[in-house]
Amino acid sequence: TIKGCIFDLDGVVVDTAKYHYLAWKRLANELGFEFTEKDNERLKGVSRMKSLEILLEIGNMNFDEEIKEKLAEKKNNWYVEYISKMDESEILPGVKEFITNLKKNGIKIALGSVSKNAGIILENTNLKKYFDAIIDGNKVTKAKPDPEVFLKAAEELGLEPYECIVFEDAVAGIEAAKNANMRVIGVGSDEILKDSDKVISGFEGIDLSILEF
Ligand code: G6P
Ligand code: MG
Repeated sequence: TIKGCIFDLDGVVVDTAKYHYLAWKRLANELGFEFTEKDNERLKGVSRMKSLEILLEIGNMNFDEEIKEKLAEKKNNWYVEYISKMDESEILPGVKEFITNLKKNGIKIALGSVSKNAGIILENTNLKKYFDAIIDGNKVTKAKPDPEVFLKAAEELGLEPYECIVFEDAVAGIEAAKNANMRVIGVGSDEILKDSDKVISGFEGIDLSILEF
């Protein structure tokens, strides 16, 4: 039986995936190329530097490490500017109700995100109190699809991987959950998240029966 739920942050708990996209698009445009929502699917769940590398590959560009650091920093500054204005209204619909329901039923809750900005976001949206364990980009060295982030989350909850379910909106995240030997529920579009065990479009109206397989 399932004893823990691990939530990705961006695009699952809060609507920040759009801000990552906006900031990357702004960088691409500044470098002189287009960056579409379809391209952006490849960046979801992926670390900041790896995302930059994918972005540059799309634009057919390459720079040395020093410039890449600067570009990543530039993107992050824009992103931080966007999220600094966030509040509780940007928690995705149904998320708080679902998590509250899980907790009432004795299920443990963890965050599993590779973002180094997770702390600010949880702070601004008042969500910290819901999590029994928080694993973010400051605690892991390997980004999704590596399973490190989810394995650490399970460990911190004191659970085995098979006792956990992951909620993810990213292709790389679904792969990471599979690599961790966990069940994974995709949050978003069926077509993009086809490798997950189940897909939901969001948490509105979702009850505990979603955890049954
Ligand atoms: C999450 C997002 C990615 C982002 C990554 C690193 O996985 O889905 O889009 O690149 O975190 O985030 P950071 O805030 O550290 O740049
Ligand atoms: Mg995500």
